[in-house]
Amino acid sequence: MTRPRTTVIALAAGLLAAAGSFVVLSPADAASTLGSAAAAKGRYFGTAVAAYKLSDSVYSGILNREFTSVTPENEMKWDATEPTQGSFNYSSADTIVNRAITNGQKVRGHALAWHSQQPGWAQNLSGTALRNAMVNHVTQVATHYRGKIDSWDVVNEAFADGGNGARRDSNLQRTGNDWIEVAFRTARAADSTAKLCYNDYNTDGQNAKSNAVYAMVQDFKARGVPIDCVGFQSHFNSASPLPSDYQANLQRFANLGVDVQITELDIEGSGTAQANSYAAVVRACLAVTRCNGITVWGIRDTDSWRASGTPLLFDGSGNPKAAYSATLTALGATTDPSTSPPTSPSTSPSASPSTSPSTPSGSGCTASVSVNAWTGGFVATVKVTAGATRLSGWTVGLTLPSGSAVSNTWSATASGTTGAVSFTNVAYNGAVNPAATTEFGFQGTGTAPSTTPTCTAR
Ligand code: XIL
Repeated sequence: MTRPRTTVIALAAGLLAAAGSFVVLSPADAASTLGSAAAAKGRYFGTAVAAYKLSDSVYSGILNREFTSVTPENEMKWDATEPTQGSFNYSSADTIVNRAITNGQKVRGHALAWHSQQPGWAQNLSGTALRNAMVNHVTQVATHYRGKIDSWDVVNEAFADGGNGARRDSNLQRTGNDWIEVAFRTARAADSTAKLCYNDYNTDGQNAKSNAVYAMVQDFKARGVPIDCVGFQSHFNSASPLPSDYQANLQRFANLGVDVQITELDIEGSGTAQANSYAAVVRACLAVTRCNGITVWGIRDTDSWRASGTPLLFDGSGNPKAAYSATLTALGATTDPSTSPPTSPSTSPSASPSTSPSTPSGSGCTASVSVNAWTGGFVATVKVTAGATRLSGWTVGLTLPSGSAVSNTWSATASGTTGAVSFTNVAYNGAVNPAATTEFGFQGTGTAPSTTPTCTAR
């Protein structure tokens, strides 16, 4: 079975470049948001989102600007989606998911089966009745969101803390040790397009708990139980700091043939120490090829479930913190619109674009495509970057493979649906300042495009 995959086609065609030749993106074209910097490394950068905060314009402004993936913080949990047995409520989760898709953001589904945040009726079930309820829940929710989820946390936090690597005691565990693999097989049967993840905390370094998860993944792979990814929550503070073997631990899981994702990152603290820890997490992920995304567990410190620990990248007013700059720098961004990188200010970009070797050249534009594909479909996010002259409009051309078709476009107007298709700016995103970027996206059926996009200034 072909698993979903994310590829970045770093392709650019300059208007002034010779026809048919490619230009290499210069440092001035480099990304200046978390999402675009991560995309340049073939990864997503996501955040937990609370549906009730979406009407807060500071919150949604940062969400739109910085993040390329979202995880509903509570809205997909069992108590939220099936408050009464057999009666499903997807309203809050749908709000988050549909908004994300409109904005070209991926969605991490969280979580199908978990001992916590169960509705009262499930807490009171046991044995076969609970097992059947779990299977029905996984089936219904995964079916409802089929085709919309990049990765599902199928099972969350099923192992105990402490030294013996045992399963966590819970009503689900007491239905039989096979409850985890049943949940995974059920999720795959309902949605063959999403990656299926096991997600946990205190598994970030090598220890008895992560060894037990490792053994389970190894066993699942050997027996053909469908598992595609392991999530590392990465909630850090002084009592549970970033482990020194974080990267090595991610790598050993990746070596089992699964993707690894940092799923709920937050690091209590402030200033340079916090910034350095964030940078270290990013570097570890970038060093592991199969670490394909990082999600922080909230946007502003005040949005955090551990707000008193100020563990996030933006302060309560929505200003980027030192941790934000360090994260952006670690992602490889070379332009930072907000603050200097706290740990290596000497690497700040030149303040004088006219003398910088990274000055954009050419009066046209370039385009690059990032693709999230699954069997039978794909979502393409296209970044348009202006050259040295301000754009007042743009058109991007792409050739779709035979048999593929555009089904839905956002932030651009498509001309044609098959073969050579062109996309022209809409009213609000035609103007692009020199070296600045704008994005649009489209969803398609069939195989994703793999050819060079052209960009023409208008
Ligand atoms: C937390 C949410 O952030 C809180 O709003 C909620 O009250 C409790 O759950 N591990 C997980 C997340 O997998 O679902 C938890 O989220 C944090 C710990």
